Amino acid sequence: MSFRRIEDAPNEQTALVRVDFNVPMADGKVSDDTRLRAALPTIKALQGKGCKVALLAHFDRPKGKRVPEMSLQPVAAPLGQLLGADVAFADDCVGDAAKAAIAALPNGGVILLENTRFHAGEEKNDPELAKAIAALGDFYVNDAFSAAHRAHASTEGIAHILPAYAGKQMERELDALEAALGKPRRPVLGIVGGAKVSTKLDLLHNLVAKLDRLAIGGGMANTFLYAQGIDIGGSLAEKDMADTARAIMEAAKGKCELLLPIDVVVAGEVKPGADSQTRPLGQINADEKILDAGPQTVQRLIAAMDVSATLIWNGPLGVFEIPPFDAATVAAAKHAAYLAKQGKLIAVAGGGDTVAALNHAGVAQDMTFVSTAGGAFLEWMEGKALPGVEALTR
Ligand code: 3PG
Repeated sequence: MSFRRIEDAPNEQTALVRVDFNVPMADGKVSDDTRLRAALPTIKALQGKGCKVALLAHFDRPKGKRVPEMSLQPVAAPLGQLLGADVAFADDCVGDAAKAAIAALPNGGVILLENTRFHAGEEKNDPELAKAIAALGDFYVNDAFSAAHRAHASTEGIAHILPAYAGKQMERELDALEAALGKPRRPVLGIVGGAKVSTKLDLLHNLVAKLDRLAIGGGMANTFLYAQGIDIGGSLAEKDMADTARAIMEAAKGKCELLLPIDVVVAGEVKPGADSQTRPLGQINADEKILDAGPQTVQRLIAAMDVSATLIWNGPLGVFEIPPFDAATVAAAKHAAYLAKQGKLIAVAGGGDTVAALNHAGVAQDMTFVSTAGGAFLEWMEGKALPGVEALTR
């Protein structure tokens, strides 16, 4: 794909920059500033060109109405601190007040505009709203890969009105994902975990066609075990998805080696420090639940990492939020990070739970690349075109 990059953008003009500041908040304060940090290289590059920077973002899902708790105002000050410069705030992303606030900025000044989703036209990709936003600037930069699966006015529509450029975080995400799944160094190993097969069907179908090996973990592995006729006791599983699981196993045959659990950790209840046992398959009691992959499964996964050149990871292997059911995820994460640090494995991970799991294991910073995206990462792994990215291609 070829994009216009920030380096090609004009100097000393007003840039409308779509960022993803849909950040975790606690008590009205930003509690994880990863996405704010991710936007800094683009903002700084534009400041360096003497441009005024007007930031467009959504927060939460206000559904086209002004919801005071979903204001982006609490984001301006922490962003300013990270940037080492004042960040102004305008309480609308269109209109005269925003226009005047942008006009009042010095060159290199930064302003955050209020939640684009306060306008019903945002999610409808209303051309009138896109035009009204576009009227505030000279060119558009999309730096929000993690919102690029949405065809909204500020992520897609506006790119057809103003000259459009890819921001630095957008470029980093696309480069890393292309290296992991587009044209990867082989062999490529995938890890897909999480609760449900039903939410990751397209993903599994796409991956078995592209990867050399795919390890399946988390609750969704139970569905695969059940589909093979293995007794999973009282474990959660989507029994109605058994046919689908069998179809995925069939599609993988001869192309992609599926690594399903060979042993599991079970307990009667899901609570911290619960009494747990490691069991081979086929020896799970009716009142026991599978809550993590077992040590042999982890060893086999680690061995698969050792012979792979690329790893792409989405979803934890067990109930990692509740120790001791974090053991498999932590051990696998540490090994992936160790290999990545040695330069032996290109290890790319993404998706909300995955990032939380890597942080829990203390290794997120050692992976080759951790995406800031949740849904967009999944849709990209599913092989879908992302409208926000498509709109940037020349
Ligand atoms: C995200 O947090 O994944 C993105 O900001 C998209 O948010 P959405 O799912 O509300 O569109």
